[in-house]
Amino acid sequence: DLIRHGSDALLRMTLRKPPNLRSNDEIDFIYSELMHIKALAHLSTTIKRQLAGCILLESHNVGGTVLFNQGDEGTSWFIILKGSVNVVIYGKGIVCSLHEGDDFGKLALVNDAPRAASIILREPCHLLRVDKDDFNRILKDVEANTVRLKELGMDVLILEKIQQPFSKEQRGDKNAKSYRYSVMAGTAEKVLEYILDSRLDEANQHLQDTLLEDYLLTYIFFISTELLCQNLLMYYNSRARPSAGGEAAKNRMLLNRRHVVAFVMCWYEIDAEIMFQKAGVREFLKTLSDSVYADSSQYDLKTEVNTMESLTQACDGYYEEMAAAKLTVSSDSSKSEDLGRPIRPSDETIVKVFSGTVDPTYTAVRVSAETRAEVILKLATKKQPSSESGFVLVEIKSNGEYKLFKDEEMSVESNISVNGRLFCCTKDQLAHLNPLPEQQGPNEPSGKILETISSRELAYHSTMYDWSLFRNVHESELIHYVLGRQTGITNNLDRLVTRHSQISWWVATEICLTSSQGKRVHLIKKFIKAAQHCKEFKNLFGYMAITMGLANTAVTRLSQTFEKLPAKFKKLLKEFESFNEPSRNHRASRYLFSTINKAPVIPFIPLITKDITFAHEGNKTLLDDHLVNFDKMHMVADILRIVRFCKSEEMDLPIPPMEKPHEYNMAAYFRGLRVIDNQRRLMQLSFKKEQKKY
Ligand code: CMP
Repeated sequence: DLIRHGSDALLRMTLRKPPNLRSNDEIDFIYSELMHIKALAHLSTTIKRQLAGCILLESHNVGGTVLFNQGDEGTSWFIILKGSVNVVIYGKGIVCSLHEGDDFGKLALVNDAPRAASIILREPCHLLRVDKDDFNRILKDVEANTVRLKELGMDVLILEKIQQPFSKEQRGDKNAKSYRYSVMAGTAEKVLEYILDSRLDEANQHLQDTLLEDYLLTYIFFISTELLCQNLLMYYNSRARPSAGGEAAKNRMLLNRRHVVAFVMCWYEIDAEIMFQKAGVREFLKTLSDSVYADSSQYDLKTEVNTMESLTQACDGYYEEMAAAKLTVSSDSSKSEDLGRPIRPSDETIVKVFSGTVDPTYTAVRVSAETRAEVILKLATKKQPSSESGFVLVEIKSNGEYKLFKDEEMSVESNISVNGRLFCCTKDQLAHLNPLPEQQGPNEPSGKILETISSRELAYHSTMYDWSLFRNVHESELIHYVLGRQTGITNNLDRLVTRHSQISWWVATEICLTSSQGKRVHLIKKFIKAAQHCKEFKNLFGYMAITMGLANTAVTRLSQTFEKLPAKFKKLLKEFESFNEPSRNHRASRYLFSTINKAPVIPFIPLITKDITFAHEGNKTLLDDHLVNFDKMHMVADILRIVRFCKSEEMDLPIPPMEKPHEYNMAAYFRGLRVIDNQRRLMQLSFKKEQKKY
């Protein structure tokens, strides 16, 4: 003990020497002592030796000393050699204590952000200190890759150091390296705090970093909108402890307030429509706006007052518009107009709910997109004298299969297959329900209209309609799609997904309904060319849908027809096959997508829904039951960003000239494509056209 005590005293004495006066022996001695320090254990010997040349001792004799305040600029990194400190956060108080061997203060240095907490000594302390310049020179690149922050004894934030993508100014400089701590996991509240602390300073705006955007794109996974708003207000109002330094504390308050407003502005920019739709957001904006206004007498918040004013106005405008123009969407797609805007939760539509096992009749009910299945069921069965209990809402598909709806599901109307119909019945009746004759689809091909238009016109009109559906799909619908239909509406995405199969069925239907072999050959050539045009228009969605239709076995088995196809077309068909090859995770399709670097694009929607399902099912949302797994959120956000990128420019194709003059309403034709979506029926038709070859 005596020896230990002696060497501690000797170390302190040596460390007090200014670095430039330290002899080699002294540096060796410091180095050998640094070997025993927990906070440095992960560093290499070279780094420790470099540190020995510059590390300083800072001794404090009085407990209660404030080492630095939350919001201060970070100038050093510290290791506790002896003693202990409290970590204090405005509005929370002491969140944890750190002891001998622990370190603190590198967040501000690595992130170039203000101090995330105040540090107050609990007793007299000996601290080791590395100043910013030395830290940057020796440690910034090699410093620990993960940092765990605790509050009340629990991990609340796990950070991972990542290399920042270079900003434009830095790109020329080969040595410029910029690191930052990004979030691996954390509680929803702490991550929000961390973002508000470190990602909203104007000085940091040039840094390319997606943390804030990722949070806004994915928060529905882990926090309710109400709670998010509450936390923002809490952060906004968190006060400095009265004892905390006057100027610094006041400055911190000002920054907190500015950061909350900047955060809300980013939220609005990500998607105003979806933000305003959320319950409680309107009240939140009003409350925040009032607070900012009230505070502007004390703080410099002029810009923020204006921002909040325009946000509340935009929100009011949204509600006024919604009340005035509640839309009725026709469930018959051939009649429904292009809304020019996404379907909203309150938009209404009339749905037919059939009942009865022989000669079913229907009840028409008026429902909104967010009406839940149980409510539709109630509305539909009310008129029936029999008891309500035991009724279920189902979709009967054209092939006779059925799909049950769960009570809490929304977007029922859009979640039906192409020729599917809604039925309500008792559980006993389920097995006896039959599709309606109208579900079988057309008996005649489209004929003249398809014969008249060129493949380019076909691709053009189809693309314009696909685009009108795609641009209305909101990213959050993809999240509801994987989280479950009780979490939010998915009407716009549903329509697009249904559209994909509708196009595929349509291609197969038209071919199988066409009697003359010559006309079939002609039609197949037209579809192949149209698929090529879709690709050229960067409508990968249409390209995939058409090629999938051509790959339907009812089509591919028509070998005599295919024999008549010119070699050039056969070659194209071969190429298509590789795209419909699901092996190796659709590598061909992904490759094609990766070659496109300019929007607008209509992406391969089935791949996007598949990827997001994979990201969701393969990764837990919560780690240890309370930390949001941000790796997953980054992954999901990356997929959502693909969708954003695809939509970032308006589709503006020149109208192709008519090959033969005609007066068909092409737009209406493509909206209302009539198809057979029953594979068995298609096969029967196909067999009628060509018998099996023996
Ligand atoms: P920095 O932001 O530079 O300064 C305050 C330091 O407190 C911070 O780095 C962390 O190293 C440390 N700290 C420890 N626990 C927490 C916590 N729960 N929240 C924020 N900072 C913490």
